[in-house]
Amino acid sequence: MVTGRPERSSAGADPTLRVLLVTSDPEVLEALRRSFRAPGFSVAGEAWPGIDAVRRAAALRPDVVMMHVEEPIVPALRTAQALADASKAGLAIISSVDDLETVRRVMNAGAHDFATLPLSDDELRDAATRSATAAGRRAVSNSGPATPQRASTAGRVITVASARGGTGKSTIAANLAIELARTRQAGVVVVDLDLLFGSVAMMLDTLPDLGIQEWKRDRAKNPGGAGAVSPYLTETRTGVRLLAAPTDPDAELELTPTDVADLVTDLSSTYDYVVIDTAAGYSELAGAALERATLPILVSTPEIGSLRAVHYIVERLRGHGDVTERMALLINYSRAFNTVRELPADPGLDVRWEIRHDVQVLRAAASGVPVSVHKAGAMFARSLREIASSIEEQEQGGRRRVLGVI
Ligand SMILES: Nc1ncnc2c1ncn2[C@@H]1O[C@H](COP(=O)(O)OP(=O)(O)OP(=O)(O)O)[C@@H](O)[C@H]1O
Ligand SMILES: [Mg+2]
Repeated sequence: MVTGRPERSSAGADPTLRVLLVTSDPEVLEALRRSFRAPGFSVAGEAWPGIDAVRRAAALRPDVVMMHVEEPIVPALRTAQALADASKAGLAIISSVDDLETVRRVMNAGAHDFATLPLSDDELRDAATRSATAAGRRAVSNSGPATPQRASTAGRVITVASARGGTGKSTIAANLAIELARTRQAGVVVVDLDLLFGSVAMMLDTLPDLGIQEWKRDRAKNPGGAGAVSPYLTETRTGVRLLAAPTDPDAELELTPTDVADLVTDLSSTYDYVVIDTAAGYSELAGAALERATLPILVSTPEIGSLRAVHYIVERLRGHGDVTERMALLINYSRAFNTVRELPADPGLDVRWEIRHDVQVLRAAASGVPVSVHKAGAMFARSLREIASSIEEQEQGGRRRVLGVI
């Protein structure tokens, strides 16, 4: 590898981003050199992937390491991990491999950004700027074309549903919301659409004064009004806000799909994530909440009846736009102690995630606190954390597509 001489950047206020280029591919190297020969950037040096990159990152102290990664991915992951440990630089990975699993593994190894080749010069510079911002090497307010991380997640709507009862929907919705709020530092609101037996307030350890019932009542009094939702939210100790279900099962609250659509529109304009828990079974309301979701999640246990129920929902919603294409299946072993190798019925969707049976879920419920508050290291809490980060990675992938990167 031909190594360029490090260019000096004056300390402190110099807005120039110093970039270390890491690749063994001459064509990619040429493209990177060209991209960073631009105002606001300088090439701090060049390195081979592996130990050379780690040493040079430590010696040259760049603001950003742009690392080109191809198959086999495992050595690249080790380098990414070592770079993340050895240097405070932003780490941007560029690759022609773009399957979600690879993206997930690279991001878990400590990368700040992932962009898929081929990339234009502007896109390469954007990836560098984003990772510098994410690593704190550049102030967000001074970040030019880069978008702050929170904005990339704005308005995601995650609906958790299953046609069968007791699959773990509410436990998953509540704990996923907590993990999103915690690890993504995002504004998260949970909507409890289980109007008869809503349990999210209990799971978030709160006793709400107001909720969805009062929102609907006041909205009915004022049909022309916007019916803003925020006054009806409850703050919880977990950092997540809640639009609670009625506490009384006899409340006879009738919500329409239009109400659901309006709730989603209002909340997703204010919160990074809106997580909707639904009642068991399939209803118009659950259908509306699934259709409105950017990520509709169907939860099932690995039993035949539960899997068939998933199949039923998928079939019901087929043809309703592209909702079934966005759907993710989560197998929760809430009642099974061992995972199964092959599902006993076809749910009509690929399994995206599995969560194992964890006795801590019941212990947390018994002590009246969410699992991740009861025991952050519990397997269930860890699984939810992984799901939260894969959701964000998926979002970043989506954003790359929006930006027109192939
Ligand atoms: N992975 C798990 N391991 C152990 N227990 C679990 C797991 N997931 C959920 N549970 C337990 O299973 C029970 C049902 O969970 P939950 O109330 O979240 O299901 P649900 O689908 O929302 O039920 P409903 O259909 O009644 O609304 C609870 O007692 C919960 O603590
Ligand atoms: Mg429930």
